[in-house]
Amino acid sequence: MKWTSVNDLREKYLSFFESKGHLRLPSFPLIPNNDKSLLLINSGMAPMKKFFTGEVEPPRKRVTTCQKCIRTPDLERVGHTARHGTFFEMLGNFSFGDYFKEEAITWAWEFLTDVLEIPADRLYPSIYVDDDEAFRIWNEKIGVAADRIVRLGKEDNFWEHGTGPCGPCSEIYFDRGEKYGCGKPDCKPGCDCDRYMEIWNNVFSQFDSDGKGNYTELEHKNIDTGMGLERLACVMQGVDNMFEVDGVRKILDKVVEISGKHYGEDNNADISIRVITDHVRGATFMICDGVIPSNEGRGYVLRRILRRAARHGKLLGINREFLTEVCDVVIKENVAGYPELAEKETYIKKVMSIEEDRFNATIDAGLSMLTDIIRGTVAEKSDTISGEEVFKLYDTFGFPIDLTREIAEESHLRIDNETFMKLMQEQKVRARAARANISGWSEASKTAISSLPQTEFTGYSEYRTKAKVISILVDGDPVEEVTEGDCTVILDRTCFYGEGGGQVGDTGTIYRDGLLLRVYDTKKTDGVYLHMCTVAEGIVKVGDEVTADIDDRRRDAIRRNHSACHLLQAALRTVLGTHVEQAGSFVDDSRVRFDFTHYSAVTDEELRKVEALVNLNILSGNGIVTKVTDPETAKAEGAIALFG
Ligand code: ALA
Repeated sequence: MKWTSVNDLREKYLSFFESKGHLRLPSFPLIPNNDKSLLLINSGMAPMKKFFTGEVEPPRKRVTTCQKCIRTPDLERVGHTARHGTFFEMLGNFSFGDYFKEEAITWAWEFLTDVLEIPADRLYPSIYVDDDEAFRIWNEKIGVAADRIVRLGKEDNFWEHGTGPCGPCSEIYFDRGEKYGCGKPDCKPGCDCDRYMEIWNNVFSQFDSDGKGNYTELEHKNIDTGMGLERLACVMQGVDNMFEVDGVRKILDKVVEISGKHYGEDNNADISIRVITDHVRGATFMICDGVIPSNEGRGYVLRRILRRAARHGKLLGINREFLTEVCDVVIKENVAGYPELAEKETYIKKVMSIEEDRFNATIDAGLSMLTDIIRGTVAEKSDTISGEEVFKLYDTFGFPIDLTREIAEESHLRIDNETFMKLMQEQKVRARAARANISGWSEASKTAISSLPQTEFTGYSEYRTKAKVISILVDGDPVEEVTEGDCTVILDRTCFYGEGGGQVGDTGTIYRDGLLLRVYDTKKTDGVYLHMCTVAEGIVKVGDEVTADIDDRRRDAIRRNHSACHLLQAALRTVLGTHVEQAGSFVDDSRVRFDFTHYSAVTDEELRKVEALVNLNILSGNGIVTKVTDPETAKAEGAIALFG
């Protein structure tokens, strides 16, 4: 086998599977689309779950990709070992109800032994413990001796990650030689030591898991494969770990150069060098794909790794901003596979340096406070820092908890994690309650509503609609009629807009001869519109034929503000950049609020430009059309929204 660069290896793999009828797709972005179960894409199959389940038709039944992935469960260990990393590239070939075990195994073997010329006697397959079909393919078709095929249990050879498609798998291990081994007599593929390295995973994806132990058989059987590009590169380049692989080593060398240290001389320095190498690599790709540092979700993952990198820079004695210099090398080394890095270079570096800058400021303020806290704790002869103090440091000053913990440990103190977690949890509950609506209703009434047919919405073209009362609720409980007070009325069709997408619900009246209901709000749940009414006159009964009539002056005002909201978003994207995405909004008849993501405060100058642009668009008097369609078509036609 010949030394092969990461870039060549990627190309060889993708073109090999193209020659087997696969469609080559670019890597999907790291931010999952429409998948709340994942913060960040963590495997080649993750962005394609719906192709596996059959919910979405794939562009072809055979697809091959090199997918950017982030895995963070071992984040704290990154740097301390050379095995752990957050960012990696996963090569994969996928079949959606097309070929199955035999082809997947045969092609994997052909690629490794023919194309890459890895000696067959260094490769060992593993199979799921009772998968005799896979055994036969390896043994009879490929010709691997029975005693070289290892049977492993669910722990190793059943692939699943959260919810979604999963199944038993067959892996391929590369024997790195005795010197990497633990020497135990039963050392074999699957052993914890470094001798047998898993390089390929063929998943026979045939179940859909709900994440709670229930497996439903998928309509068709699929193939999901994964091969860590950096691991394969270790094999092809004869190096120990991913930090030695060509593209990654160049990044590491840059860190070494900036710090003036040597790699491989001092364990602590090596840890910091690896942390910075891995984290800047991951952060570069995350920012490129639209993640912005924040205190929540994936934004927090990014903030954490950037801050961890910055802090390890300090530990190495680097006393200036340096992350973007490392980022330059990441971009240079990866631009061949990911041209988007060059397009967004200025933006990526800007986000990174702002975060580094902020971190430096936070560190200075937070550190002096933490020093006081530590002094106080020691003076009280306690070995534990109070959870309240840690929470305050985090909540008020944005001082990262992991950093507090690391620094406390340096003074041999622990933190009261339990109280801290409790306070965090309480804060989350407060935030959630503030966002929720219809929150006081019982589960039973929510279930009753969801069993009703979806309301037909006529309000895009009508302000007045003939309809029939199909259900009435009082305090969430179904009733047949109401003579006075408040109730919730559900119609078969309505022109009342239900609160949603940041727009308030309509108000108006519902009436027939002898009956008048004043609608003070409209909400929507599971496609059912809920008219919140007060009975002003008469008796409302299930089955009544009524007219629903909205307050059209108010609706027109809301519509104008809703349009303003979109014009504002468009103007922000023009002035500040296309990374501006809607993070929330509120529209009623008197105002519009628009929340968005941007890496720094908007300047007065920028604000003036935005205002001028919005006004220009209003004055141009462009028409507005309403089109009801599905999200895919809307996106294809250029619509912008946070569809996730
Ligand atoms: N989805 C499988 C993995 O990530 C192939 O290992």
